[in-house]
Amino acid sequence: MSILVTGGTGLVGSHLLLKLCLESSADLKAIYRSESKLDKVKHLFYLEGNEELFEKIEWIKADINDQNSLEEVFKGIKLVYHSAAIVSFNKRDYNELMKTNSDATATIVNLCLENKVEKLLYVSSVAALGNYIDNKCVDEEAPWQKTNTTSAYSISKFYGENEVWRASEEGLDVVIVNPTTIIGYGNWEESSLRIIKRVADGLSFYPSGSNGFVGVKDVVETMVQLMNSTIKNERFVLVSENLKFKTLFDLIADELGKKKPKRELSKKWAEYFLRFEQFRAFLGGNPVLTKSSLHTAYSNKCYSSEKIKETLNYSFETMENVIKNALKDY
Ligand SMILES: NC(=O)c1ccc[n+]([C@@H]2O[C@H](COP(=O)([O-])OP(=O)(O)OC[C@H]3O[C@@H](n4cnc5c(N)ncnc54)[C@H](OP(=O)(O)O)[C@@H]3O)[C@@H](O)[C@H]2O)c1
Repeated sequence: MSILVTGGTGLVGSHLLLKLCLESSADLKAIYRSESKLDKVKHLFYLEGNEELFEKIEWIKADINDQNSLEEVFKGIKLVYHSAAIVSFNKRDYNELMKTNSDATATIVNLCLENKVEKLLYVSSVAALGNYIDNKCVDEEAPWQKTNTTSAYSISKFYGENEVWRASEEGLDVVIVNPTTIIGYGNWEESSLRIIKRVADGLSFYPSGSNGFVGVKDVVETMVQLMNSTIKNERFVLVSENLKFKTLFDLIADELGKKKPKRELSKKWAEYFLRFEQFRAFLGGNPVLTKSSLHTAYSNKCYSSEKIKETLNYSFETMENVIKNALKDY
């Protein structure tokens, strides 16, 4: 049995590889783009006391935007975890997001079909789901809709998911997970862990909104359980808790021994700041606030994980514990 992991140098993929190395006797292949990222994955294995297991992985240099680099990789593969994607809320990344999160997902599913892969697990996002008008918590049935605050990331993940559903109609067994914001041990400069960096650098203000959060260990545990089950052609929202941003920031600040943000930033002030950031982006800068992230920061989002809890009889780690464990090595 051979397993392929894409995105193995990222937050989700690195924790998934560690879990598979610990628990599976299958041959493990993972793709990477740069050597420096491999060192970071090795460091995770080292921190968890399993440095030698890193050697179990066959790393192959490949880019999901380059089909030729993937052809050989897929030979003999039976199970695929597709976690590679770009996580960005910057409008300027629109083309890159569509190419990597949508078009390359089409390439991955086509290669799965051609190579008679038995099952694909696709890491989607709650960004590929919609909202209910009556404020009911978002679940797997909430239909995605494009609005004037929809991010390019959300569009790209929605189209990426569509490619996976298309493949399921063409005979590939698929499972999709839709995680909320993921927290865990990893690189604070990337993906959702930038939120930790913001608190570590010192945050004075917080927005009034709330969102769903989940620990990376629960994400990869549920992924592996779903892959190893007979469940197919279904999707599952992954959320541990729906929390106010203030609560999340306080938990992180407490753990890091940093000051907690004290003052709520009104939406009006955030909108002024957004205009400044839009101007900076226009001049070529990298904005810390975008229209869609402002919308998220001031919305009271709520997600439901009833389906995965019932299906796998699963319970999620509290976010307090997730944060404690994620930050204990800093
Ligand atoms: N983090 C979250 O809060 C969150 C929430 C919901 C869903 N998700 C989804 O979860 C998945 C994993 O996210 P993450 O947080 O682990 O992101 P991450 O830490 O930024 O990792 C992204 C991974 O994708 C790889 N990648 C990007 N473009 C690639 C390309 N062209 N070819 C090959 N590999 C490429 C990266 O490789 P390099 O290391 O070479 O850049 C990295 O391994 C994504 O599909 C994301 O949409 C994340």
